[in-house]
Amino acid sequence: MSCVLCVLVGMVSFLFVTGTEATPHILFVLADDYGYHDIGYHGSEIKTPTLDKLALEGLRLENYYVQPICTPTRSQLMSGRYQIHTGLQHDIIWPTQPNGLPLNSPTLADKLREAGYSTHMVGKWHLGMYKKDYLPTSRGFDTYFGYLTGSEDYFTRNRCYESYCGVDFRDNLEPVNQTGEYSTHLFTEKVINLIQNYDGSKPLFIYLAFQSVHSPLQVPETYTQPYRHIKDQHRRIYAGMVSAMDEAVRNITEALQAEGIWNNTILVFSTDNGGEILDGGNNWPLRGWKHSLWEGGVHGVGFIHSPFLNDTVKGTVSRDLMHVTDWFPTLVSLAGGSLNGTLPLDGIDQWETINGAKISLRKEILHNIDPLFKRSGKPIYNGTFDTSVRAALRAEDWKIITGNPVECMYNSMLLLPSGNGYQLNASIIVCCLYPMVTEYLEIN
Ligand SMILES: *[C@@H]1O[C@H](CO)[C@@H](O)[C@H](O)[C@H]1NC(C)=O
Ligand SMILES: *[C@@H]1O[C@H](CO)[C@@H](O)[C@H](O)[C@H]1NC(C)=O
Ligand SMILES: *[C@@H]1O[C@H](CO)[C@@H](O)[C@H](O)[C@H]1NC(C)=O
Ligand SMILES: *[C@@H]1O[C@H](CO)[C@@H](O)[C@H](O)[C@H]1NC(C)=O
Ligand SMILES: *[C@@H]1O[C@H](CO)[C@@H](O)[C@H](O)[C@H]1NC(C)=O
Ligand SMILES: *[C@@H]1O[C@H](CO)[C@@H](O)[C@H](O)[C@H]1NC(C)=O
Ligand SMILES: *[C@@H]1O[C@H](CO)[C@@H](O)[C@H](O)[C@H]1NC(C)=O
Repeated sequence: MSCVLCVLVGMVSFLFVTGTEATPHILFVLADDYGYHDIGYHGSEIKTPTLDKLALEGLRLENYYVQPICTPTRSQLMSGRYQIHTGLQHDIIWPTQPNGLPLNSPTLADKLREAGYSTHMVGKWHLGMYKKDYLPTSRGFDTYFGYLTGSEDYFTRNRCYESYCGVDFRDNLEPVNQTGEYSTHLFTEKVINLIQNYDGSKPLFIYLAFQSVHSPLQVPETYTQPYRHIKDQHRRIYAGMVSAMDEAVRNITEALQAEGIWNNTILVFSTDNGGEILDGGNNWPLRGWKHSLWEGGVHGVGFIHSPFLNDTVKGTVSRDLMHVTDWFPTLVSLAGGSLNGTLPLDGIDQWETINGAKISLRKEILHNIDPLFKRSGKPIYNGTFDTSVRAALRAEDWKIITGNPVECMYNSMLLLPSGNGYQLNASIIVCCLYPMVTEYLEIN
């Protein structure tokens, strides 16, 4: 079945590529651990005026999926391929792990550079660093400014893992000790700098992978002041972190306007996975959280803002099924690039769907199959898929989860929304009791 889909994807992508002539600037903003209920237009108590305005002028993607953790989502964005095809289906890449996004297929940045773009990355990489070949500047980016592991201190850039501690920060290949400034401000200045120095010769691709709003919970105090009424301390700081990110996006869009290129820029905003509820995130009304295969882990915040959007879709909501792998063929074809030379993609070119011209060709998403995860329960059937394996598949309006949908570290906790925060109920979920779960998804 997936092979039929692959062939179809290949054909469709090829047709679109040859017909595209626009070369817009592309700004891809990836937030980290940003929960479904943490953006203003989803009814959050956290104020996100910039993101709301951009989303309401653009197209909100409300049936949009990412992966439940960092490395997998980032790998799928960069490769257009499911993590079962890259060996990254089990976990994140830990700091001491000699692993990376395989070099056998070009990245989104490779493809945009090939299409004539000037390509820049600012922020969190998390796709491998044990050899130079795996670093962003070896994976299609002309410049890189950021950190290579999964999390660190927002001010000192210090990262401790097992018995190792050190500063994780690079300017291109050069390790730098750029201490003191909050990373959201530092990354914003860098992006603004790239925009102000834009020489007009090539279209720009900027991949801004914010540290915001991943733990540790840190933000300059001015950002938490509007949230003094939030009792839960984690939620209060997290809210301030979100506000700083919102302000950062405002500053960047203003810089694009000042440079006169905003009217030719496509902005994509996406989270990398669901909110981490123990660190202030909230995915209400979705069940689950970062790490889980439930909706709260994978049903992401996402929108697109672009002058090239069809007037009929501007300001509307898309309920077409869309997945993070889809950005690869969608953006490459918009850029007038070629998908030649990639291994078979799982992503589908969604531009005509985004533009209101046709319904999504995507009918299914393989959320993951992870045979290395601890098995849960006994196989229900013989001679077919082993239901004790951790896996999830979405097919149209249905979703099946087998094995353990959550990480066992949370197995005795459930968060109950309460007022402006939430409380932990320590007595409900025992994750290993789930051999198989079916979940009906209401799609209006
Ligand atoms: C980084 O800079 C800070 C502040 O100047 C200093 O305290 C720290 O020792 C430096 N770290 C390294 C690894 O050089
Ligand atoms: C945004 O710009 C304002 C005005 O220059 C500045 O005070 C603020 O720190 C900037 N915010 C971020 C997140 O970069
Ligand atoms: C964007 O604005 C500039 C300056 O106002 C104008 O020259 C250019 O044609 C516009 N581009 C698009 C794609 O509308
Ligand atoms: C695709 O790439 C191969 C090898 O790089 C090349 O021989 C071929 O001409 C390319 N095809 C197209 C349609 O660009
Ligand atoms: C714009 O949207 C309308 C209505 O959804 C659709 O019929 C039309 O094909 C779209 N135009 C383009 C250029 O995609
Ligand atoms: C599967 O096969 C085993 C071993 O033959 C058997 O004990 C078990 O009952 C079978 N289970 C089902 C659901 O048929
Ligand atoms: C926590 O869950 C238990 C078992 O379902 C229930 O009895 C209890 O009322 C819940 N606690 C709260 C605060 O809702």
